[in-house]
Amino acid sequence: MPSRNPLLGTLMLGLMTLPALAQVRTHVGSLTGEPPDLSNWVHPAAPDGNVWHRSTASPLDLFRQMQIAQLGKVLFWDEQVSSGNYTACGTCHAPRAGGTDERLGATHSNGNFGSFGVPPQSDTGTIDYGFQINPVSSADVLVTPVTAPTMIGAYMFNQLFWDRRAGPDFDDGTGTNTPVPNFTDWAALEDLAVGPPENEVEMGHEALTWSSGFLQTKLNRAFPLALVDASTIPPDVQWITSSGATYHKIFDVVFGWHPQFGGGGGVTRERFAMALAHYHRTLIPDQAPIDLGALTRDQQRGFDLIKTRGSCFRCHSSSGSPDLTPQGTLDPFDNLFSDGEEHGIDLAGQPRRKTPTLRNVGLHRKFFSTGHGNNNVFSLQDLIRFYNNQQNGLGFSPPLDPTEEAQVLDFLANGLTDPRVANETFPFDRPQLFGELNPTGANVYGNATPGPSGLFARIIACSPPKVDQPIDWWKVGVGEAPRNSAAVLMLGFSSWFGPTIWVDNVFATFPTMTNNEGFATAQQPVPMTSALIGSAIYCQWEIDDYRTPSFSDAARFIPY
Ligand code: HEC
Ligand code: HEC
Repeated sequence: MPSRNPLLGTLMLGLMTLPALAQVRTHVGSLTGEPPDLSNWVHPAAPDGNVWHRSTASPLDLFRQMQIAQLGKVLFWDEQVSSGNYTACGTCHAPRAGGTDERLGATHSNGNFGSFGVPPQSDTGTIDYGFQINPVSSADVLVTPVTAPTMIGAYMFNQLFWDRRAGPDFDDGTGTNTPVPNFTDWAALEDLAVGPPENEVEMGHEALTWSSGFLQTKLNRAFPLALVDASTIPPDVQWITSSGATYHKIFDVVFGWHPQFGGGGGVTRERFAMALAHYHRTLIPDQAPIDLGALTRDQQRGFDLIKTRGSCFRCHSSSGSPDLTPQGTLDPFDNLFSDGEEHGIDLAGQPRRKTPTLRNVGLHRKFFSTGHGNNNVFSLQDLIRFYNNQQNGLGFSPPLDPTEEAQVLDFLANGLTDPRVANETFPFDRPQLFGELNPTGANVYGNATPGPSGLFARIIACSPPKVDQPIDWWKVGVGEAPRNSAAVLMLGFSSWFGPTIWVDNVFATFPTMTNNEGFATAQQPVPMTSALIGSAIYCQWEIDDYRTPSFSDAARFIPY
């Protein structure tokens, strides 16, 4: 991490003239680097391929780079990036939860509380895939083995993830670990960004890789943010969403001029990576009370207690001893309250982890890589008590009394909270996601009717159908059904009221078979034409159960 980190030291000396270095320590540069900011501040830290963050860049350069960041903001909040059209990056990284996952109850089989991802899917040879039994947990969807750390402030780390496996270079994805030219250092954000879309737990499935080209093809045909509540699209990105252009066009407009990645070609892995990384470099949390010289007396006392009696800043700072300047502001190198290194903190059975930032920790609903805090059984106060009880040089010496504990809590819970993050205002503003308005299962209705085997077959209906995709992207599944049995998906234009049949005005049926785990997937059961946009389709499975019809519950879809 900053100043004390030899890597950054080298980088800074490489980038800066000495007079600039002198200014750096007192100036927090802004992303736009608008003149007269001449600090050449490596803040946000970025690879050589991104010259723009240096404020000596020309206004035209800065403008172009801001457009890339805006494209990244759109991509971060677009659920179409995921295989099921249901999971955006932001689904797991909510600003109002400090950039972490605010959804509780995602238990991984390793006992940690992770993030809900996509339903398990496998490749069946071509582009698409069937739903599969969940190998990891009992939930409908897969769960990540660790909780989601924040992306807010992540630009300051040269290596990312709890085990720091992303970065410092951005490799070309060919499996040879060859870095993309100009992205050999400070490119952890680029390196990380291309991972989730092809990760079969988070957003993808087994065959959805960048090298397959399917994701590029899908996005090239998609309209940016087509699924979110359009009235909530942030103003700075409305030029993208109101342009009527697909991602193909927008990527070419935004990157066409670029010396390394210019010209046509629409969506590419490198452009995608740069856009998301640029967006992350706009997420600078530096307007908390501690930055504004606005700590209350109790919060200030909490800060002082951590400094004088706590061991915390040994790991939760880059300098070892963060201090306020005479103006009452913080040294920008200590912005993150993390050293970016891995440590073990005696959480039972947990490996060493990258020290997380303390910024906005008061907004978290889960803590640690383990996701402690699930269902509110573990609060920030419990966390402070955890540390206070440490006898091994990790906690407070002598231990805090209850008044002091309350002051430390006040500092951590409020003194480090940027109100723009808490309130999701610019640059932390974002659209309302389709998945938030339509929680998993909200489109499912009716009850299953079992056959002789007694199985209650369950419809899997988590993927809103997109009209006008070149590849068959809409799928409806069924699970917990009789194995190796004939299964027919019924599609109707209206619902029926049961108790066995739940669809009416049936206009199509789609025959298939369940596999030996009792799963079936109907891939693009009806052609998606624009005539179907906006009108509801109702679906239900009928499955042969020892020659007796059994039925799943039903679901409602609205093609878009
Ligand atoms: C299903 C939930 C989920 C989705 C979707 C998701 N993430 Fe994450 N994110 C995680 C988890 C879990 C981790 C921690 C993984 C680890 O450390 O092994 C993480 C880690 C990160 C980090 C590292 C922060 C740090 O300090 O190390 C960044 C940055 C990030 N994600 C950005 C993104 C971007 C960009 C996308 C979309 C392309 C995305 N995430 C999609 C769950 C998610
Ligand atoms: C030896 C280094 C070290 C020391 C000392 C230390 N921490 Fe930590 N802290 C970590 C690491 C590493 C984690 C993440 C552990 C994990 O998730 O498995 C962490 C996690 C946290 C978290 C949770 C943040 C989140 O995003 O979930 C908070 C809050 C925290 N520490 C506060 C403190 C306080 C307060 C002290 C002093 C009493 C302290 N830490 C001392 C390394 C340290």
